[in-house]
Amino acid sequence: MPLNIRTYHELTEPDRSGLGEQIATQRRRLAARLAAVGRVVVVMSGKGGVGKSFVTAHLARALARAGRAVGVLDADLNGPTVAGLLEAGTARLVVGEDAVLPATGSDGVRLVSMAQLLADGQPLAFKGPPAESFVWRGAAEAGAIRELLADVAWGPLDVLLLDLPPGMQRFLELCDLLPAPPAVLTVTIPTPESRDAVRRALRAATERRSPLLGVVENMVDGPFAGTAGADLAVEFGVPVLARIPWHPTPDTWAVLAGRLG
Ligand SMILES: Nc1ncnc2c1ncn2[C@@H]1O[C@H](COP(=O)(O)OP(=O)(O)O)[C@@H](O)[C@H]1O
Ligand SMILES: [Mg+2]
Repeated sequence: MPLNIRTYHELTEPDRSGLGEQIATQRRRLAARLAAVGRVVVVMSGKGGVGKSFVTAHLARALARAGRAVGVLDADLNGPTVAGLLEAGTARLVVGEDAVLPATGSDGVRLVSMAQLLADGQPLAFKGPPAESFVWRGAAEAGAIRELLADVAWGPLDVLLLDLPPGMQRFLELCDLLPAPPAVLTVTIPTPESRDAVRRALRAATERRSPLLGVVENMVDGPFAGTAGADLAVEFGVPVLARIPWHPTPDTWAVLAGRLG
């Protein structure tokens, strides 16, 4: 600790020439690490603040309470909130000989989060030329996720939930990394703006041939008006898996967990 995440920028020249081979090796390790994972599910939305992390954490706990072995990877490197929701914010990762072992959060959910790698509240900082920081940042974040997925020994899991940042970039990177396209669970709030953003996410998922699990409509009894959940369900031929009110009870999550099997 902390886990040393190398960025492309830090690779030395001889390393850099072997980059293709390094990535191929990592991809093989990643496939081996995920061999005992029954299902990889990414939680996506188009916008931030709609409750992706909230849904990921509570769904994970409900699945665990129903007897499933569940892991959560917080793949939102700049706003890692899942750790706090799983009450594992201060848990440290155990770095072993050749693997990182997940922390254990509420209800036995296994968790790996950037929050566990970072000092409290400190933004993830990558070294790189300032003028190109935007480019480096994207590459470095993709690299960090690739290394985490290749390094974490989850053990046997029924389901691994990946909490993604808003937008589609991380999803597309994951599709290039994972042995098979991940299943996609989308989260929206009722508004037309959220619907339009989630539509783009669902289109990207369809293009990548990811299995679409359905739509979770969140904050349905709040100030947000609209029919985003129903609209998206019709448009993509997928179920509305749950309509989540403000401050839902555990029963709400149990029903959602049951629908996912
Ligand atoms: N149904 C809900 N009831 C109560 N609070 C919620 C609900 N959904 C989300 N929140 C809260 O709203 C905020 C934003 O949710 P979050 O999961 O961080 O969004 P995202 O991951 O999509 O950016 C968080 O503080 C979260 O705890
Ligand atoms: Mg989030």
